[in-house]
Amino acid sequence: MNLDPLVWPAGTRVGPDGAVSVAGVDLRDLAAEHGTPAYVLDEADFRERARGWVVAFRDAFAGLGTDVDVYYAGKAFLSVAVARWAHEEGLRIDTATGGELAVALRAGVPGADIGLHGNNKSDVEIGRALDAGVGRIVIDSLQEVDRIADAVDLAVHGRAPVMVRVTTGVHAGGHEYISTAHEDQKFGLSVAGGQALETLRAVLARPELELLGIHSHIGSQILDPAGFEVAARTLLELRAQLAEVSGHLVGELDLGGGYGIAYLPGEVPLDPERVATELAATVGAVCAELATSVPRISIEPGRAVVGPTTLTLYTVGTVKPVTVPDGSVRTYVSVDGGMSDNLRPALYGARYSAAVVSGGRDGAPVTARVVGKHCESGDVVVHDVDLPGDLRAGDLLAVPATGAYGRSMASNYNHVPRPPVVAVRDGACRVLVRRETEDDLLGLDLG
Ligand code: LLP
Repeated sequence: MNLDPLVWPAGTRVGPDGAVSVAGVDLRDLAAEHGTPAYVLDEADFRERARGWVVAFRDAFAGLGTDVDVYYAGKAFLSVAVARWAHEEGLRIDTATGGELAVALRAGVPGADIGLHGNNKSDVEIGRALDAGVGRIVIDSLQEVDRIADAVDLAVHGRAPVMVRVTTGVHAGGHEYISTAHEDQKFGLSVAGGQALETLRAVLARPELELLGIHSHIGSQILDPAGFEVAARTLLELRAQLAEVSGHLVGELDLGGGYGIAYLPGEVPLDPERVATELAATVGAVCAELATSVPRISIEPGRAVVGPTTLTLYTVGTVKPVTVPDGSVRTYVSVDGGMSDNLRPALYGARYSAAVVSGGRDGAPVTARVVGKHCESGDVVVHDVDLPGDLRAGDLLAVPATGAYGRSMASNYNHVPRPPVVAVRDGACRVLVRRETEDDLLGLDLG
């Protein structure tokens, strides 16, 4: 069995009997101890990828004499341990809600190393961010300038460090729902429409706020660095324009996240060194053109840090041949999870692969579709995959590259408890997030 190393966690190994281990843990043993479904996260791989983004960007921008901060976008997957690992590897933590902020703080990440986003932050979230002394709050509307400034008590908080999120008109990424910087959507302030400049000036007019810089996030699952370069140019031009009208040259640009990964065998992820080098070249050239200094840079990768580090481990249940309209037969393989642990196929038409990881199956491959256990025909986990024809109920099936937006978008649809996240490292397991139980769910139901 051949498992593409770009798609599977780095510590994945196939044994002689076809049984698969990750970081020295046999997935059969993991399933026996922790049950299925389970998210299995390769800790060393997470740390390596996290550090890889820091090193690639720091190295690329060092040539321009500037530094880079890498924020791990916690929306992709955040737990206390993961926030701590990311911070230990030199990343800061990007949070999108008070809940994510609470996780980062629980992990002991200093407020100064946390950013807070959100297009509709509540007063409570703003207050908590100020009290925690977050390193930056990213403003997403003109109204928010006054809302944050009014919440600042200068004697207690000092000036609140903020950025302004702008939309550059670049539309990049896999699906309309995950592309966020084109016009006519809820995020950011339009550069072309003038609201970006207006909001930046409004920030400068409030002494309670310290304008750190300008932010842009152009989309997600982006495989071509060109979009980042166009966005960087637009931000640098806006920065120069703001300096011209206000005399204030902001010190930092955040280019957001969105770096694409490989989901299917043969796909090629965006390479951190390549994107960092090309972006540094663009930033250097545009700054020279505009005769401005090179700003500090920050980025916010989520998927590219955690996505490939994790697989979802399922147990096979019903296996059923279905004759499809063209007369051929497709084998429907049902697993003990589905759209409640991975919404991405149903929501975005996302494609995944799968493999039998409990070994002992060498039947001729059949065309299979892996489906979940939910009461919905769109509950598909993997649309098309070749699986051994002698696959049986009780076999273990793993779907790789589910670390980003898998557990973080999981639901309790059909009252299915959410799976645990089990970290593996050096032959040992550690449960980061325990399995939900029916009692957890019933505990919310007040009768
Ligand atoms: N920064 C900001 C401001 C963002 O809005 C996002 C993602 C990120 C960073 C991280 O993007 P990443 O590097 O993970 O692509 N649920 C969708 C993805 C939504 C992304 C939303 N924003 C999915 O499953 O594909």
